[in-house]
Amino acid sequence: MKINIRKRIIVKSTLMVFAFFYATLTFAQHSTPWNVPEAAKLKKNPYPSEEFSLDRGKKSYKLDCIRCHGAGGKGDGTSSGKLEKTVADLSSDLVQNQSDGELYWKISEGRKPMPIAKRTLTDDQRWDIINYIRTFKKTQ
Ligand code: HEC
Repeated sequence: MKINIRKRIIVKSTLMVFAFFYATLTFAQHSTPWNVPEAAKLKKNPYPSEEFSLDRGKKSYKLDCIRCHGAGGKGDGTSSGKLEKTVADLSSDLVQNQSDGELYWKISEGRKPMPIAKRTLTDDQRWDIINYIRTFKKTQ
């Protein structure tokens, strides 16, 4: 009988310790700033935002980004509910106020659960996607 109580206490405290670490980890993920090197921020998009680039960007976006970020970039794609993090809203000022270079760097490097796009997309494809996601900007 006594042993059982002790066991229960051990199990409960172990669970509490795990819950605490899990919460800390989740909190840390949300609050970690995503620092982009200054030089990367200044990189210019080699492609003007013209039909050709936008069409190509849209195609790549549909293949590689839409499942998380959604058709309008709001972060409401079909996979978004299954992730441990909130998917960024690409139409938000927070994203739209960043330079092309900054977005390019983030997309290229990725950050879990977002994949590392430089492994799967060419430079051109990534710059075209940036032109395309600029079309999500809210117009007021
Ligand atoms: C598996 C889901 C997933 C896919 C696929 C994905 N993303 Fe993301 N994306 C995320 C999540 C989650 C975040 C937030 C990451 C963070 O803050 O650590 C994010 C963040 C971003 C950001 C940064 C926003 C900020 O806070 O500055 C940009 C830009 C972005 N994604 C664009 C894209 C583009 C473009 C693609 C396609 C090439 C893509 N993502 C594919 C899930 C995804």
